[in-house]
Amino acid sequence: ASEGAYEHLKVTTPRPGVGLITFNRPKALNALFTPLFHELNAALRAFDSSPEIGAMVLTGSERAFAAGADIKEMKDKTFADAYGADFIEMWSDLMHIKKPVISAVNGYALGGGCELAMMADIMYCSVGATFGQPEIKLGVIPGAGGSQRLTRAIGKSKAMEMILTGNNLSGKEAGERGLVAKVFDSAQECVDGALDTAEKIASYSKIAVKAAKEVVNKSQDLGVREGIEFERRVFHGLFGSKDQKIGMTAFAEKKKPQWTHE
Ligand code: CAA
Repeated sequence: ASEGAYEHLKVTTPRPGVGLITFNRPKALNALFTPLFHELNAALRAFDSSPEIGAMVLTGSERAFAAGADIKEMKDKTFADAYGADFIEMWSDLMHIKKPVISAVNGYALGGGCELAMMADIMYCSVGATFGQPEIKLGVIPGAGGSQRLTRAIGKSKAMEMILTGNNLSGKEAGERGLVAKVFDSAQECVDGALDTAEKIASYSKIAVKAAKEVVNKSQDLGVREGIEFERRVFHGLFGSKDQKIGMTAFAEKKKPQWTHE
């Protein structure tokens, strides 16, 4: 993920262990189209496989995280085009990334933009953020997980209201309703806050971080009992890691742990 290698993204490593991916399609408010997704997936995978990187931040501009799927790109698609080529399927590559991803949302996060932000592990936004699923106004419905993730995040009644009316949710409301973990006063503070959190995560054992993300994500798919059993197995497994010995010994000896990520 070297800098300058992308047309629709800016990809940098602004902090130790942190990869920053910034959508850079300002003329279309970062509308999400296929070439951008090829680049996004490549950038995410490059950071995911880089031993230097421990966490990532995904952001857009102050005006728009992403104003949704590119309506002009998809307007002439037929059912056969959409179904036959699994339209939107490749948008979910983010879900297969093993390292934590934080979305820092400023400005518009509409339709696919909101859905992509919700695929991240942690969401931050600024007061100026606008979340929405306006697909109903275009004669369609959310297609990248919005109906499922938004409903789990803010509850059925509010999600149903948003998806059926196309009404937006402000950054402040997103914080109050628990869609995002934190709301910042400005776009810059939001990105900086996400980078701070990513840097902190990147300072821990990569083995433990990977396991932590995996078990929390399981809570979204499993019942509580199976989820707790899964957690216990993974917890037990970590006693086979070097970093468990390093972390606990360092505590007992009042030292700073030097992780081996093994
Ligand atoms: N697709 C393609 N182009 C888009 C776009 C989108 N989703 N959103 C914005 N743009 C383009 C506009 O067409 C415009 O281009 P031109 O200058 O060439 O006309 C440019 O970005 C700037 O946008 P506006 O002039 O409209 O800016 P604004 O400040 O007046 O309005 C906005 C901003 C309210 C976000 C408005 O652009 C808008 O409503 N955009 C569409 C939002 C939307 O419906 N998103 C959902 C898409 S469907 C989807 O995502 C499906 C799914 O579930 C995967």
